[in-house]
Amino acid sequence: MFAGAASTHGAAVAGNPAALLQVDGVSLEYRTPERVVRATHRVSFELHEADRFVLLGPSGCGKSTLLKAIGGFIAPVEGEIRLDGRAVTAPGPDRIVVFQEFDQLPPWKTVRQNVMFPLLASRTLGRKEAAERALHYLDKVGLAPFADVHPHQLSGGMKQRVAIARALAMQPRVLLMDEPFAALDALTRRKMQEELLELWSEVRFTLLFVTHSIEEALVVGNRIALLSPHPGRMRAEINSHGFTLESQGGAEFQAAAQRIHRLLFDEPVAQGVAR
Ligand SMILES: Nc1ncnc2c1ncn2[C@@H]1O[C@H](COP(=O)(O)OP(=O)(O)OP(=O)(O)O)[C@@H](O)[C@H]1O
Ligand SMILES: [Mg+2]
Repeated sequence: MFAGAASTHGAAVAGNPAALLQVDGVSLEYRTPERVVRATHRVSFELHEADRFVLLGPSGCGKSTLLKAIGGFIAPVEGEIRLDGRAVTAPGPDRIVVFQEFDQLPPWKTVRQNVMFPLLASRTLGRKEAAERALHYLDKVGLAPFADVHPHQLSGGMKQRVAIARALAMQPRVLLMDEPFAALDALTRRKMQEELLELWSEVRFTLLFVTHSIEEALVVGNRIALLSPHPGRMRAEINSHGFTLESQGGAEFQAAAQRIHRLLFDEPVAQGVAR
């Protein structure tokens, strides 16, 4: 499926006309000869244009598996995933994933070549246009001066910026990020969160961001889906657009973080039991 441009602005939508991505009653399983592992159970949520939607849940609750399914790498055993109203059945350039690992960039390609590669491989652009677009997005993440170096000459944070530029250069319908900052030190992580939000203000891409950090979820997201421990089920959806990096540490932020903690771990909250 190389129809990058064709699939970018589809209008045919089933169900909620505003929804860009619909995850509808999705159960996901891994099957080995010995056993079947259910990773998620009937998970439903919707992303709208320019959402910063966060999937938050404990280790093993199926967050990465959900991203793989939205990426089109595994098929639901129950339910359906729709992008612009069309069922997702295979990977495509309209959904790009940024992973946690620093080694997601082929080391033999320069930074610019790394960003150009998916544009060329998907035949989205010719060489000249791909080079221009690569530089444009490298500039957005502050790495234009490093276009001609190789990944081993970059810090972990810089490598993640390249991976983000590479993903955004494809102008996907939805950018999928799987704990992209989890392997960074605390200061770099905070800086990357700040930069991601700046980038979002500028480009207004649609983001589906996975984390198991409550604080990161509150800072990065405008909406947060809470998943229960294994197998992941939707526990609650929280509106978090009011929180920024600046509000971190404040009383309201702390209260929201505590509420999420209770919801995630099913502890009673002050007024009754929230579910
Ligand atoms: N390839 C696989 N084969 C079998 N089971 C798997 C496979 N990958 C994941 N699982 C299982 O599926 C469940 C969900 O895994 P997943 O990686 O999606 O969790 P996660 O929420 O991303 O966790 P983490 O926060 O640790 O990254 C886990 O119980 C895991 O053991
Ligand atoms: Mg994971």
